[in-house]
Amino acid sequence: MSVQKQIKRITAPAITARKGGEPIVSLTAYHSHTAAIADQYVDFLLVGDSLGMVMHGYETTLPVTLDLMISHGQAVCKGSKRALVVVDMPFGSYEESPQIAFRNAARIIKETECGAIKLEGGKRMARTINYLVDRGIPVMAHIGLTPQSVNVLGGFRSQGRERDLWKPILEDAVAVTEAGAFAVVLEAMAAPLAVEITKALPIPTIGIGASAQCDGQILVMEDMLGLSPRVPKFVKEFGKVGEAIEGAIKSYADEVRKRSFPGDEHTYDMKD
Ligand code: KIV
Repeated sequence: MSVQKQIKRITAPAITARKGGEPIVSLTAYHSHTAAIADQYVDFLLVGDSLGMVMHGYETTLPVTLDLMISHGQAVCKGSKRALVVVDMPFGSYEESPQIAFRNAARIIKETECGAIKLEGGKRMARTINYLVDRGIPVMAHIGLTPQSVNVLGGFRSQGRERDLWKPILEDAVAVTEAGAFAVVLEAMAAPLAVEITKALPIPTIGIGASAQCDGQILVMEDMLGLSPRVPKFVKEFGKVGEAIEGAIKSYADEVRKRSFPGDEHTYDMKD
């Protein structure tokens, strides 16, 4: 007997169908508890390889491994039930050949049960995107500032600031669309360029430091919560979670030191 899941997750084709409609809301998520909270409000959760910098203290996303992505992907899939979960392919896991990309993407899908993967690159990744989509793996593309290329780009710089630099980025957008990507992240690019790409493509554009006119937006959750020590200028902080955590930890430390810590209920029964 087949068991129907009660709540159906948003799918990659459902995200594509939102092109030009109600803006697509998304955030990164790396753990199950924050995924559970965000799941109520977002259309997709991205297990971004930014977790290497945000959670693990690396300077770039380059040291992130496939195992690390799978571990966080499992946590986010367990914590959420409604949003599409997209897991980033880390640096070194897909660039070499479409076949290697498929093997690693299939591992991500099998071991996390996420609904799609994301990889960075435009024209140069078109053949790989096509290969994965043809074999049943929905791919979100990522162009503009592609942080895994930080050493080639010479830093985390916004792209396409001068109009004469737009052509290759527009070509990247068309190439990933023709290859079968279901949506494309536009990271750190001049707003008029992001608008032009959004108008030109039949698939949704998801902006981060790009333009409010993109079909959707994504932010790193810790950045918008006010938990990251440094954030890019375009990030609006919607909370002061870092300050709240520090306040709570300070109060706890004060209570322990004064021996007024309320730890005298000798039971592990849960509070109502
Ligand atoms: O890794 C990540 O968090 C990302 C987003 C910034 C789009 O790729």
